[in-house]
Amino acid sequence: GFLAGLQTRLLNTDSGSGRGKPPIYILYGSQTGNAEGLAATAASTAKQHGLEPVVKALDEVELEELGTMRRVLIVTSTYGEGEMPDNAQLFWEALSSEHAERLEDMSFGVLAIGDTGYDGFCEAGKNLDTRLEQLGAKRLLARVDCDVDFEEAANTWIETALPLFAEVEGGPDEVAASPATADTAVPVASAYNRKNPYKSVLAVNRRLSGEGSGKEIRHYEFDLGDSGIHYEAGDALNVVPENNPELVNLLIERLGTKADAAVAKHDQPLAELLTRGFEISTPSRELIAAVEQRAGNADLSRLVQSGDKAALENWLWGKDTLDLLQLNPSLSLSADEFVGLLKPLQHRAYSISSSSLANPDRIHLTVASVRYVSGGRQRGGVCSTYLADRVQEGEQAGIFLTTNKSFRVPADKHAPVIMVGPGTGIAPFRAFLQERQASQAPGKNWLFFGDQTRASDFIYEDELTVMMKDGVLNRFDLAFSRDQAEKIYVQTRMRENGKELYAWLQDGGYFYVCGDASRMAKDVDQALHDVVAEHGGLDAEGATAYVNQLKREKRYLRDVY
Ligand code: 2AM
Repeated sequence: GFLAGLQTRLLNTDSGSGRGKPPIYILYGSQTGNAEGLAATAASTAKQHGLEPVVKALDEVELEELGTMRRVLIVTSTYGEGEMPDNAQLFWEALSSEHAERLEDMSFGVLAIGDTGYDGFCEAGKNLDTRLEQLGAKRLLARVDCDVDFEEAANTWIETALPLFAEVEGGPDEVAASPATADTAVPVASAYNRKNPYKSVLAVNRRLSGEGSGKEIRHYEFDLGDSGIHYEAGDALNVVPENNPELVNLLIERLGTKADAAVAKHDQPLAELLTRGFEISTPSRELIAAVEQRAGNADLSRLVQSGDKAALENWLWGKDTLDLLQLNPSLSLSADEFVGLLKPLQHRAYSISSSSLANPDRIHLTVASVRYVSGGRQRGGVCSTYLADRVQEGEQAGIFLTTNKSFRVPADKHAPVIMVGPGTGIAPFRAFLQERQASQAPGKNWLFFGDQTRASDFIYEDELTVMMKDGVLNRFDLAFSRDQAEKIYVQTRMRENGKELYAWLQDGGYFYVCGDASRMAKDVDQALHDVVAEHGGLDAEGATAYVNQLKREKRYLRDVY
């Protein structure tokens, strides 16, 4: 199932020893848990084929150990625009180095998952696949690159791959003899997943940011009722949205048909498909291509043919599927054709902002509503406006959990925790603070928070103030960027407090970042390097080594998007 990630730990320990069975290493690079979940699926399939699976994150593998592996199945997602996921970066650094040893004895296969909506689709998987071949390893089967609706393609690949791995000759009989635990627990994934979401009652839907704010940040509470869903601070909640009914109606009108029109290959009427079945805001590549060929729009054709992706992205910004159809009034698409060019409607994942220790019956989210006006129409983010405008308190919405085992409060309750979470990036850290409070963790907590203005964007001010007073929050640094002439950002505060920040790290501190990936997380990363260099007396190379060590020890963790 989708939540198979839950199973990994059990699969790792319930080996029943299986001495003599050929080992297969299932190595994953995962950011949000999808690839990790597929690794767990591959592990159970491996057992069915008489193999002994050893599941690890790529960063848990040293190159020397890699050199001893005969069967390696890699499953990885791609992060941002073509980067390795956080728990595969060190591995990739080593593997791509010119000093990497040959891997002639290895047979391998790569399963890549990605998002065709980004540049660098499945780039991480492609790079690993190419590099292993360069080093002399034998590719057992072609890589598959899966899009966001990866399940079917991924499962088919796994079913094809494992029998091939089972046929690989020999192999060292040296699977680290796992302690023969008595843990025979049958792993149970939650019954709820993307195909079968839990219908949760939305108990609270309330605006957090002030009316004067340039932003609308809202607080939601989902009732878990008798779902049996158990979550941990650091997990994400997926919400299954519905599209804006006004856009649905405008599309039906533009297609020149009726809400109840039948659509080829589908059991449901058009309005239902456009509301719950497909993405109608962001146009798919297929729709763009079809419109380019048939609408005779000079701008679009020039951009598509120039191959300048950035310029095309820029032109497409804010345009939805209706905008594309309206490029040419005489462009005529049937409902069948139109629906055939759409992508399935995806759930949206949000970092949970509560701890189950403090709120066992509810999951809290902290979400910015995305709204803008373009082409005379009010537009918005699909899921953020769905929640804000179309689910009233007391009404239901479909949800399911994604566990994120790599983003957790430290197991060591004494470890100091540093959290950098401007804007809605505060979400998981509100959860962490609740968790540290409820579990009476004695370790110190330090939060960096910021946004545009203190007057309207200081969300959760009351709670955080109480936490300061109660000594749960030991240090709290604020950065409101627009309250003065010069910009003050969270990283400004990190630098100002560099000495103490470094001392916390030296003290075994954990450093967490959540929020905007493209600018904030990059700048915070730079600030971290600078702080470590300055206060640790290191040069740039030394600072990088220090930060890499933090990553290796899982003490530098990010949840960025
Ligand atoms: P600004 O928009 O006033 O420049 C949340 O969006 C906060 O992040 C805002 O205060 C925003 O400031 C700030 N922000 C913008 N760019 C940033 C960056 N590169 N690093 C950190 N914070 C940034």
